[in-house]
Amino acid sequence: MSELSITLCGMKLPNPTILASGIVGISRASLTLAAQGGAGAVTIKSLSIEVRKGHPAPIILTYPGGMINSVGYSNPGIDNVGDEFSDLTSVGVPVIGSITGRNEDDYKILAEKAAALNFSALEVVLSCPHTPGYGTMAGLSTPEKTEAVTRLVKDRSRVPVFVKLSPNVMGLVDLAKAAEAAGADAITAVNTAGPGMIIDIVSRKPILGGKIGGISGRALRPIAVRCVYEIAQAVKIPIIGTGGVATGQDAIEMIMAGATAVGIGSGVYDRGITVFRQVCQEMQAFMDTENIKSLKEIRGAAHEV
Ligand SMILES: Cc1cc2nc3c(=O)[nH]c(=O)nc-3n(C[C@H](O)[C@H](O)[C@H](O)COP(=O)(O)O)c2cc1C
Repeated sequence: MSELSITLCGMKLPNPTILASGIVGISRASLTLAAQGGAGAVTIKSLSIEVRKGHPAPIILTYPGGMINSVGYSNPGIDNVGDEFSDLTSVGVPVIGSITGRNEDDYKILAEKAAALNFSALEVVLSCPHTPGYGTMAGLSTPEKTEAVTRLVKDRSRVPVFVKLSPNVMGLVDLAKAAEAAGADAITAVNTAGPGMIIDIVSRKPILGGKIGGISGRALRPIAVRCVYEIAQAVKIPIIGTGGVATGQDAIEMIMAGATAVGIGSGVYDRGITVFRQVCQEMQAFMDTENIKSLKEIRGAAHEV
């Protein structure tokens, strides 16, 4: 039987699937459900300093190519999650914290506050495409900002730091290199693409409350695979390949592009919370058929000439 367990930045994961940020919200109970559904690790919804209501409804739409969302970082603020996240052992798998800020000062505060919580790793999000004041809309997707924010979060963290990048930038590889140079322990590639827009032709208006939204799921997969492939050629730190993974075949493709682990977000909407177990079973079936004993054998295989 093929072996799916991995070590990611010192964390032992039973399998390479990781719940992506923002998919089941911020409660310990919902993260536990994802762990019970087979996730090897889980990521919380991103926390900001202030309480954020997010954009007005509707905030999530599906269309034949995948999903578009304008959630807008609704979250209770990092000061209000102590009860939820001070003891995370009951979740059963490593819990990855996630922080999102408007500028370097925000990230300093967020990193200090996150260090008091019980996360196994911390994801720094520089890449939301549709929330004014945050991510790419705040100009955070430059090598200079990536390096500065990564360094100051790293200086304040006891746990591995992952930097989550956007697929929407030219020179993505330079961002990954900047994160690595500043001490990032891993890269999460990628956040949603876009922003995009869907218009209701009867009311003649954009449907999403925030008008524009980030594109995830099926349409994102080839972009995410290309991003992972390019980043894998440029850095030595592990990559969490995220974007459109919903089947074992998709996950294998990410690993062959060079990912160590695989994030799953929209796949939860498509296949339910047990998507992680289903993906693992499908990976195992493929590996058994192809006589692949472990993921190490195929990691980055697409780079071989
Ligand atoms: C409804 C929704 C909310 C999201 N919220 C966040 C978030 O709070 N922080 C973040 O870093 N990414 C967020 N994302 C992006 C996902 O974590 C992931 O990077 C992206 O959806 C691509 O993966 P997927 O195609 O498997 O969904 C969100 C995605 C969706 C669909």
